[in-house]
Amino acid sequence: MRYKPLGDTGVQIPEVGFGTWLYKGDRSVIRRTLELDGPFIDTAESYRTENYVGQAIRGQREAYFIATKVSPENHRAADLVRSCDRSLARLGIDVIDLYQLHAPSPSIPIEETMEGMARVIKEGKVRFAGVSNFSVEQMKAADAALRDLSGGHRVVANQVLYSVFARGIEADLLPYCEENRVTVIGYSPLAQGRLGGELKNRPELSAALERAAAETGKTVAQALINWAVRSPWAVTIPATNRVERVDENYAASDWRLTDAQYAAINAAA
Ligand SMILES: NC(=O)c1ccc[n+]([C@@H]2O[C@H](COP(=O)([O-])OP(=O)(O)OC[C@H]3O[C@@H](n4cnc5c(N)ncnc54)[C@H](OP(=O)(O)O)[C@@H]3O)[C@@H](O)[C@H]2O)c1
Repeated sequence: MRYKPLGDTGVQIPEVGFGTWLYKGDRSVIRRTLELDGPFIDTAESYRTENYVGQAIRGQREAYFIATKVSPENHRAADLVRSCDRSLARLGIDVIDLYQLHAPSPSIPIEETMEGMARVIKEGKVRFAGVSNFSVEQMKAADAALRDLSGGHRVVANQVLYSVFARGIEADLLPYCEENRVTVIGYSPLAQGRLGGELKNRPELSAALERAAAETGKTVAQALINWAVRSPWAVTIPATNRVERVDENYAASDWRLTDAQYAAINAAA
């Protein structure tokens, strides 16, 4: 497993982690991520899977990097602190490694939210702050507010949709993050389970992926995951409820599509 920097923290995280939206709680699935040296688990208060994650990591908490999220309706400072406490309790841990604002709030000022974030960091309940589904402008505002209110803590990651099928961040967000040393945590690298349908509708892309898979001796899913971690600042968090697919998805690290394969996939996409 290759690791990538988490912002400017000095901490490195696996470039392939594990998403838990729709995770049904089979502990062996999460434990396999540790055996494969990719113990980076992403959850959220809204997924209702934090308790499953807590059960799976019990007794080995120190070995994992745990990321969770606070929903926009809880972005008032006091609500954020309460949400953080509840997440800690459900996860059965003392500190969240990465606490992410799940999406921008349409009504609560970011300064008010970051007041809460600064508090949970100061109290030692959160190590690092992140955002999710934030634009470049929203990220800049979030980072400035947190810096001011926390005495220098930064927004170290932005979790956003990123796959061969959804390349919107390449226009501005990905270059901004690469330049400013912010980690991009890409979600839904496998089209949220609609892989078969997506590929059927796009024969040229499907052919390019199959060719790359054949040439590298990998699967199409592995080619897609490898594509998603091409940038030195990008990691990805595919989800599965099947142990054997953790093996498959994690074996998408430790090698690279050639420039020609990458270009052919992009041209077809
Ligand atoms: N921040 C946000 O707003 C946001 C939004 C969406 C997702 N996320 C995060 O990102 C994670 C991943 O995204 P996602 O769950 O939307 O979708 P995804 O990872 O693109 O796709 C997951 C689906 O792909 C299937 N799958 C997994 N490995 C496979 C393989 N090797 N070959 C074929 N199919 C495979 C899974 O089915 P099986 O279980 O049957 O293997 C599941 O149905 C989420 O769990 C969540 O943590 C965040």
